[in-house]
Amino acid sequence: MTIKEALIMGRQYLRVQQNPSANLDAQVLLSHVTGIDRTGLIIRDDQALTAAQLQHYQELLERRAQGEPVAYLIGRKEFMGMDFIVTPDVLIPRPETEVLVETALQFFHNNTDYPTLVIDVGTGSGAIAISLAALVEGLQVYAIDISEAALGVAMQNAQRMGVKERVHFQLGNLLEPVLTKLEEKVSIITANLPYVPSGDIPSLMKDVRDFEPYLALDGGPDGLDLYRLLLPQAYSLLRLGGLLILEIGPGQGQGAQKILPPEQWQSKVVKDLAGRERLVVAVRC
Ligand SMILES: C[S@@+](CC[C@H](N)C(=O)[O-])C[C@H]1O[C@@H](n2cnc3c(N)ncnc32)[C@H](O)[C@@H]1O
Repeated sequence: MTIKEALIMGRQYLRVQQNPSANLDAQVLLSHVTGIDRTGLIIRDDQALTAAQLQHYQELLERRAQGEPVAYLIGRKEFMGMDFIVTPDVLIPRPETEVLVETALQFFHNNTDYPTLVIDVGTGSGAIAISLAALVEGLQVYAIDISEAALGVAMQNAQRMGVKERVHFQLGNLLEPVLTKLEEKVSIITANLPYVPSGDIPSLMKDVRDFEPYLALDGGPDGLDLYRLLLPQAYSLLRLGGLLILEIGPGQGQGAQKILPPEQWQSKVVKDLAGRERLVVAVRC
């Protein structure tokens, strides 16, 4: 079978399974199997696949048809222009989360004399912590997660991106591992902790609900349980004027602002590129 025939076959197979991105998924999977990039697949579309490549491609198509996300099938996801390793132990980094990284970058751009110490809590693949370390010279980042398996993936990513000396991984609950060590020393705390309301989990897309780690999703009855617990810890760690950046879901902005005591925090809601509420950014008073 040629590349062209394999692409047509893959696209049709995934379309029958109601996959809305059948064409793209078939291309990405075939590119992974052959080691030829997507442009190359078009240029060399009359090249024949080996029997092993065809078998591997068919296996991946079947798994994709069952809802397994492409990122887990190929073990990679791009975030902030960098190529992250992902496994089912970590949430797949989302493009919406890039607005969180950009907000932190803007803060350092506007406050050049500020000490560059960041904590990323619920680091997962390390997408936020590692991209900040890669993009801000000299930045020191503490990256915390309650999942040992997730930290293992994040450490591999730090090594790949060449920032492992500046990203310090800690296993633990919320900010507990650094509470006594970094009091009032931190410039920014970033948190993309689980924020999906428990009652919404059954109605999430199958790809997310059945394949991504539950520990990365469930945020309690209104989705804000972990943020409630995080706030007093974050307050004691941040410097005066430091930033707490929380990722939230659409419709959670007002609720999230309400849990921030106004005598301690000045907050605003930031939307993502699709115009949906995505962050609460709070300055520590
Ligand atoms: C929504 S994922 C975000 C992953 C990553 N920061 C990103 O943006 O792609 C949430 C992460 O928080 C971690 N987590 C859940 N509860 C936690 C807790 N109590 N303390 C620390 N991390 C926690 C999960 O293991 C998961 O890796």
